Amino acid sequence: MSSIIKVGFAQTHPEFGAVEKNLDRARNLWGNRQADLLVLPELFNTGYQFKSLDEARSLSETVPDGRTTRFLVDWARDSGMTIVAGLAERDGEILYNAAVILGPQGFIGKFRKAHIFDSENEFFQPGNLPFTVFDAGFARIGIMICFDWRFPETARTLALQGADLIAHPSNLVLPHCPQAMITRCLENRVYAVTADRVGTEQRIPGESLTFIGQSQAVDPDGNVLIRASGDREEAHVVEIDLARARNKQINGRNDLFADRREDLYRLGGKG
Ligand code: ACM
Repeated sequence: MSSIIKVGFAQTHPEFGAVEKNLDRARNLWGNRQADLLVLPELFNTGYQFKSLDEARSLSETVPDGRTTRFLVDWARDSGMTIVAGLAERDGEILYNAAVILGPQGFIGKFRKAHIFDSENEFFQPGNLPFTVFDAGFARIGIMICFDWRFPETARTLALQGADLIAHPSNLVLPHCPQAMITRCLENRVYAVTADRVGTEQRIPGESLTFIGQSQAVDPDGNVLIRASGDREEAHVVEIDLARARNKQINGRNDLFADRREDLYRLGGKG
């Protein structure tokens, strides 16, 4: 199987709470583009700023039998693509800020955001699933969600588990992530596709959130292959060669993983 594949993202502007409209909007925005992998934003079906736990619960869905996952399964089957997309997952009484991955053969798996950002703590429990690399056949895909970028252990764990590419559904409000992901890719020699949203939500008086867009694809040398605008809905596809992510050699004498000094690292903290 060729190591050259096409990956893409759709940078959407969801309308809060309008799930059916947001699903159609994402699919229409993507149109007939062809890619092996499509990444959609965090909470792309609902919007971000919940007013209450009850509201978050009413917009959450079970996985994989909920409305949004079924819509994505149909889309993946019809198009032949693998899709990663964010949604609010309900598991019994507990809500997670989650992402699903599905392909032409159906549902593959899910990830639950590990590092919960700010007011999300009122609605979502921190993820309780291990960082997992999903084998989509054409690529090994790791998933992290938005603020997980701020913790370098996340991308490192996925890379050490063999991820070729990190799919990164996001709703970014801080400015730093697009630049930081360049370093995440460089320090792990992986590709990353960040799918962000645009627009502003002010559902709570005095708490306006503007999402910064700038969805992007970055290669293992830290090159930004494509970066979207900060304020428009856009969809893009780029060709990448996974062989570059599978080779951790930096030069004739340095290998990014073999050179790690696990004997010196103390990731558990003091002591
Ligand atoms: C974020 O994690 N959505 C900022």
